[in-house]
Amino acid sequence: MEQNEVFNPPAEFSNSASIKSLDEYKRLYQAAADDKEKFWAEQAQAVHWFAPWSKVLDWSNPPFARWFIGGQTNVAYNCLDRHLTTWRRNKAAIIWEGENFEQRTLTYQELYRKVCKFANALKELGLKTGDRSIIYMPMIPEAAVAMLACARLGITHSVVFGGFSAEALKTRIQDLEAQIVITANSGLRRGKDVPLKQSVDEALKHCPTVKNVIVYKRQEIPTHMQSGRDHWWDDMTLDRPETCPAEQLDSEHPLYVLYTSGTTGKPKGVVHSTGGYLTQVLSTMKWVFDIRDDDVYWCTADIGWVTGHSYVVFGPLAAGATAMMYEGAPDWPKQDRFWRLIEKYRVTIFYTSPTAIRSFIRQGDQWPEGHDLSSLRLLGSVGEPINPAAWKWYHKVIGKERCPIVDTWWQTETGAIMISPIPGATPAKPGSATLPLPGVFPEILDDKGNKIEGAGKGFLVLTQPWPAMLRTLYKDPERFKENYFSRFPGIYFTGDAATRDNDGYIWVLGRVDDVINVAGHRLSTMEVESSLVRHKSVAEAAVVGAPHELKGQAIHAFVTLKSSEKESDILYDNLREWVAQEIGALARPEKIHFVAALPKTRSGKIMRRLLREIVTTKSVAGDTSTLEDYNVILQLSRQGKEEEEILGEKK
Ligand code: PRX
Repeated sequence: MEQNEVFNPPAEFSNSASIKSLDEYKRLYQAAADDKEKFWAEQAQAVHWFAPWSKVLDWSNPPFARWFIGGQTNVAYNCLDRHLTTWRRNKAAIIWEGENFEQRTLTYQELYRKVCKFANALKELGLKTGDRSIIYMPMIPEAAVAMLACARLGITHSVVFGGFSAEALKTRIQDLEAQIVITANSGLRRGKDVPLKQSVDEALKHCPTVKNVIVYKRQEIPTHMQSGRDHWWDDMTLDRPETCPAEQLDSEHPLYVLYTSGTTGKPKGVVHSTGGYLTQVLSTMKWVFDIRDDDVYWCTADIGWVTGHSYVVFGPLAAGATAMMYEGAPDWPKQDRFWRLIEKYRVTIFYTSPTAIRSFIRQGDQWPEGHDLSSLRLLGSVGEPINPAAWKWYHKVIGKERCPIVDTWWQTETGAIMISPIPGATPAKPGSATLPLPGVFPEILDDKGNKIEGAGKGFLVLTQPWPAMLRTLYKDPERFKENYFSRFPGIYFTGDAATRDNDGYIWVLGRVDDVINVAGHRLSTMEVESSLVRHKSVAEAAVVGAPHELKGQAIHAFVTLKSSEKESDILYDNLREWVAQEIGALARPEKIHFVAALPKTRSGKIMRRLLREIVTTKSVAGDTSTLEDYNVILQLSRQGKEEEEILGEKK
């Protein structure tokens, strides 16, 4: 990796940025290092509190942190009400475009009214602080309205990505024991209906806790509505009061639970808080995005992911920014849709994923070049390591060598951006997330947990609690401890490997656990394996991530069949479809390898490490001493090579 290529922040950008130089960043970082609590207390001043906190951090029962003890606030109040007493009341809060080119702009005042009306609807159905809701919505403003209405009342919400299947939805509803599901009758993706309500109906056959469903009518299509349970959004909000007091919630009140993949088959419910979360999300809006009142800020993430929570809804709105929201696919109806949107709405800040960038590269420069992108001033990347070539293309073709790029490293669990350049201050190196933000204390550890000083490679950890950190895993505090704080006792392990170069820059290399990152979406190998072995023809399955030019990683499944079954092209397709049905299209394996046996240790554990090696290097050089039957590996690598040769010939 070329670690010495440096792109300095353009002077024009730095001059008007909120943090203007590396020295300024260093002073801020040092202030946080000298007195972390004082530092975060200062940052928390940017939040509106109904009641002040008495103590900044309680870390007396690690790893369970509590921030801003005794403080009372409300995230929706911070995102809406407090802008209404300023000139921002008539500023665009959300500019939305549907995939079918519909357009809507909601000012802060309009958004406030919608949120209040919807909150009143929730109250009417008997929901109250402490209850739980599931939000299963397309990318429409009502998704943000639902999130904010829940936040307003202190109903802990969990957004489930609209691309997840009924089965995945069901397990999340069940785990959360939600009382209500908020959905739409359909979504729109590449011109087709996404039958969200049908999936809800399917899931609810097994979810007795859900008493009500609110359905937004996205399209005029026949929709099954179960009497007594299902209510149309419009009916529930028609003529309802346009104000609804925001609950004064404890700083530690759980704002949302977001399910993410871990190293087992069962998704983990990451629990985020209120006051600490908001404080750090708001600080990063300022530091990383240098957000200003005249920005048109566009983060392309779906609200189903953490990026959609922190940087589509809560962060930009708390900052009083104008946020763009787009419903559909980037290549619909043509490959230039994103560039059309940037040109049309004069987007100034654009935040997307490396997978999207790589697919833009593949489509060709003619698509962005056909549009006026001169409104852009800042670009961002998130979700996976960005390869230097993609970074440079982004910089040149989209940013016209004028816009800094912020490569932001963080996780569902961290709640907010942790490692990232500050655009007016930090010289960028393509492929590196650069330096930790103020108040963030990463280290790189070796296998034994020793700190690596200076340059080196190892495991990325965070040594001190931060305000937006997950508080626990929903209903599973033991798993929370075990998952994050046991590999290196008492220290938060990110699951990532990283190197640090001579300038102290951090280069995140990717996951070292059984988590795969497909197009920036997190999946666990176990989740896909469990799905495969539920298929009637499958005996055993092992899933690994293989390098993929576009998606970063792709899913390869090694499958042994029951003795009565025979491999066939039909079965191959069936298995891929089966997983897509069970989990969602994003989990559809790229490739199925039918094999006679899987490599196992003598104690019967599948050695995924060796399979990973096979799909990456087509051979096995690593330690095989614990392998039960070496022949299995010989066969597999032979098969891998043959496949490669066949593919080579085809090319
Ligand atoms: O491996 C890292 C990768 O994505 C993981 C977190 O995934 P998720 O919880 O789904 O959150 C994604 C959006 C914040 C991390 O453990 N990752 C995320 N951002 C970067 C990254 N890897 C390298 N560089 C990044 N900028």
